[in-house]
Amino acid sequence: MEGSSPNHGVSEAEPTQSAGRRAAHVLVVDDKQVVRDFLREVMQIAGHRVTSAENGQVALESCRRDPPQVVLTDLHMSPMGGQELIAALREEMPQIVCVVLTGYGTVERTVELMRLGAFDVLTKPCRADEITATIEKALEHHKALSTNTDLRKRLQVQEKLAMIGKLAAGVAHELNNPLDATLRCVRLTQDRVKEDPEALEYLDLAHAGLLRMADIVQSLLTFSRNAAVEQAPQPLAALVEESLASVRLALGDEAPELCSDLRADVSEAAVPRGMHQVLTNLLRNACDAAGGGTPITVRAMRNNNELLIEVEDLGPGIDEEVLPRVFEPFFTTKEPGKGTGLGLPISARLVEKFGGRIRVECPTAGGTIVTIALPAARYLAEAV
Ligand SMILES: Nc1ncnc2c1ncn2[C@@H]1O[C@H](COP(=O)(O)OP(=O)(O)O)[C@@H](O)[C@H]1O
Ligand SMILES: [Mg+2]
Repeated sequence: MEGSSPNHGVSEAEPTQSAGRRAAHVLVVDDKQVVRDFLREVMQIAGHRVTSAENGQVALESCRRDPPQVVLTDLHMSPMGGQELIAALREEMPQIVCVVLTGYGTVERTVELMRLGAFDVLTKPCRADEITATIEKALEHHKALSTNTDLRKRLQVQEKLAMIGKLAAGVAHELNNPLDATLRCVRLTQDRVKEDPEALEYLDLAHAGLLRMADIVQSLLTFSRNAAVEQAPQPLAALVEESLASVRLALGDEAPELCSDLRADVSEAAVPRGMHQVLTNLLRNACDAAGGGTPITVRAMRNNNELLIEVEDLGPGIDEEVLPRVFEPFFTTKEPGKGTGLGLPISARLVEKFGGRIRVECPTAGGTIVTIALPAARYLAEAV
């Protein structure tokens, strides 16, 4: 229970914030002279000192001699491309912030580059003001990196959130309609081939795959800044039951025992409907950790001026090195196809919207407890 046992670790989602501006040294890396000249001019107009290199190798040597704050790099160059350059810099000089300017801007590629350590990815053709704005943000990020490690974490998360917002707006909206139509077609065909078990099995697989895609698109949409969050109030007890039911339904026979233990004085608290998504995310994580063997419990209670909702599992807990990263977008320890790394950051974002806090703790006795603390004054009718 909250605060009652010693923890070997706690991770709390940080609210996001931004830092000041600063002009500085930018290294431009591109194999085309005309692009280098263009970028040099844009950066000089913005008041920055500019050096340039024609490939990753030359750039790396230049960074060792005269380290810039920001590297603005192309991807395809020989003998060393932008991706290798980013990886090498991350190892050797992690305080240098890398921005990619590429002709090939797919979502997958962008996510991959971010995983490698790119701060932002711009797609050619790109307007000068867009480049300047991105370099300014990169410089703010650099400043934070060198002055404050705590802020560094926040900025990393904030920039990733901004990037995902951008991707979501561009891609998830486009995917939503065709996905919906395809799902409908699969359902209609399922009805027609009832007498052909093999065809039905293939369609079931296709259906499951499409549902997973829809799930990911939905996660990305929730991340985009404009995504609507369901604020309509719903009694806590009903919302918890609904969340437990939807996880049981999704996991079928593999679902572990899912129980709830809500104190009478909070069970009718009027919480936002969007908490359903938060609880489902936490329950799915708990189920993944428990692996079906041990029960999962949702508790709710009041603690002074807070309404606490806890999801506890008796799984293996979270390693000390992993714990500080669990709220990072795209951070997952699950195998490809199993995790998106969006469950906890989305939950943190929603809880923040509802005026609350979320934290993950691993008691020394084992297992994991995720606690959501909401302001009682807002959600409990009798609270003052
Ligand atoms: N209840 C839990 N027990 C153990 N590890 C957890 C638990 N909840 C979250 N985690 C860790 O946090 C990571 C991020 O979780 P999340 O953001 O939901 O992404 P995903 O579930 O897609 O991996 C997980 O990959 C896992 O390592
Ligand atoms: Mg998850």
